[in-house]
Amino acid sequence: MVKKRKPIIAGNWKMYKTSTEAVAFVQELELAVAGMEDVEVVVCPPFNALVPVVETLRGAVISVGAQNVHWENQGAFTGEISPGMLKDAGCRYVIIGHSERRQFFGETDVNVNRKVKAVLQYGLTPIMCVGEQIGERESGITEKVVRTQTEAGLAGLTAGQVAGMVIAYEPVWAIGTGKTASDSDAQQVIGFIRDLVNQLFGAEAAAQVRIQYGGSVKPQNTGSLMAQPDIDGALVGGASLDVESFTQIIKAATR
Ligand code: PGA
Repeated sequence: MVKKRKPIIAGNWKMYKTSTEAVAFVQELELAVAGMEDVEVVVCPPFNALVPVVETLRGAVISVGAQNVHWENQGAFTGEISPGMLKDAGCRYVIIGHSERRQFFGETDVNVNRKVKAVLQYGLTPIMCVGEQIGERESGITEKVVRTQTEAGLAGLTAGQVAGMVIAYEPVWAIGTGKTASDSDAQQVIGFIRDLVNQLFGAEAAAQVRIQYGGSVKPQNTGSLMAQPDIDGALVGGASLDVESFTQIIKAATR
């Protein structure tokens, strides 16, 4: 089956890399992925490195994303960064609602929705993360959890906005643990999300929205995940911190 959606591989660097390390990384990555044009590559450095990475990648096909954002565009919000500021820094993507933000920083579905709407207003593309915890999977409520997060996160958007965005399905128990969801479990939930988008926003949005899998993605498991009909790419944490392994993942996604 040929997918019409362009695969998207995004590296979530979390709280790793100085700006010097980040610049050296993307210089190497740019050379390593030259010519691989049938997959979109995104790196999401920490805030300190956004501008130097954008500058290093000027003219390159690799895009830059941020890992978080506030929903207001300015104001007395100490420690926060706004969609306009990320746009100004040269970002194209913003990860929103990562499970670490939900777990450690009190991110709620309501705030995820505010952030998604705010970044769309600034012409940025959200990578909205959803996913169940281990206890939720074990009690058989994965789809219920993912439905609630997806419905709430996308509330009030137009079909066109949803069509252009990226959703990342990341089972929380698979993040940073070395335990990947099986290809069929990942496909099942991602297919469920696409059906939900179809119900809520129509067939065109469902056919166009790109849905990534995330959680212990490695060079060895990328190819079979990407072969699933509804999986359009990966959100990669640990394995995106090393040029060699990130490049292998990108290569596996081009096949
Ligand atoms: P991991 O992280 O690849 O290290 O499991 C994925 C993520 O948190 O996006």
